[in-house]
Amino acid sequence: MTQGLGYALPPRAFRDPAWFDAEQRLVFGGQWGFVAHAQALAEPGTFRAVQLGPYALLLVRDRRGVLRAFHNLCRHRGAPLKAGAGRCASLTCPYHRWSFGLDGALRGVPQAEAFPELDREALGLFPAAVGEWHGLLFAHPDPNPPQSLDAALAGTEAALAPFEPGALTLLHEERFTFAANWKLYVENHIDWLHLWYLHEDTLGAFDHPRGEITLAGPHWMSFETLRGDAAATGFGGVDEGLAVLPSLARADPKVRGIGAHYVFPNLLLFSGERFFMSGVLQPLGPQETALELQLYGVAGGDPEATLAAFYAITKDEDIPMIESLQGAMAHDRFVPGPLAQPWEDALGHFHQHLLAVLEGAAS
Ligand code: FES
Ligand SMILES: [Fe+2]
Repeated sequence: MTQGLGYALPPRAFRDPAWFDAEQRLVFGGQWGFVAHAQALAEPGTFRAVQLGPYALLLVRDRRGVLRAFHNLCRHRGAPLKAGAGRCASLTCPYHRWSFGLDGALRGVPQAEAFPELDREALGLFPAAVGEWHGLLFAHPDPNPPQSLDAALAGTEAALAPFEPGALTLLHEERFTFAANWKLYVENHIDWLHLWYLHEDTLGAFDHPRGEITLAGPHWMSFETLRGDAAATGFGGVDEGLAVLPSLARADPKVRGIGAHYVFPNLLLFSGERFFMSGVLQPLGPQETALELQLYGVAGGDPEATLAAFYAITKDEDIPMIESLQGAMAHDRFVPGPLAQPWEDALGHFHQHLLAVLEGAAS
């Protein structure tokens, strides 16, 4: 692990609209970002509208089974073709009903005689890039991204592949917003030091000093298990309403502890022996962020106790702390102190990568 990188972001990075706009374009709109679980687009004709930074995109599984991504912009006057998710045979604009095939080609134009010399070939939907990585779908607004998806996510396989999320079932989903900058959520997620203190009661049974923390490029992965003297099993023993994920029988035993992972820039993951949970960060403004959670597991499981334990940590402990830190960012006098080595090293690493992306030095 890289050691000793300090806290590098100034308070204005957490509140300044110009900083926010640059992140939207270069970080959320200029990188491969998580957009959906593969199951959501398994069938021909399924679609899903997604947002990456300022870019509205449309994911579509075409009739031949090819997964495609387009900018969600009608080629007539720019209306969004679809909202939400569903199934369709074609992409028909609600404004003046131009119609596009699932391959993006312009097919139908009402009152075609009103558009003399219409060049249909040149009026297909603008493409974007999409790809699948261990059951997770990622997209890039640029149809020819500077970096391949495999290169962008290199090093994350060890934490993702064993769970085979593409074979699991969606058991719960929820979206909520909180009043803080998205980076404060990321910092909290990758901050190992607060596990001992803020989560003394909720995560006190885990063996924090022996946590396995891995950095892979801008991504962060971690696993920890219960202390030897702790009686509970699994995720503090609360996830017994869920079945053990079958794929873990073949996996390294360390991944059966609880895992928390961050895939730059917008994906948070939480894993266990019996669940795989994704959290997508969507910045709504410099001081407001949405988090979309989806819990996957074996079909038929009851996730209630697992969710209650998860929310006791996140909604009752992390989010109030993150929202109060947003207040500190209003003070220009505030200068962060030193970071604990190695427990807060990941924060410095995150800041350095973010700054490199904003300066155009990283893809
Ligand atoms: S904007 Fe779509 S048909 Fe006019
Ligand atoms: Fe936390």
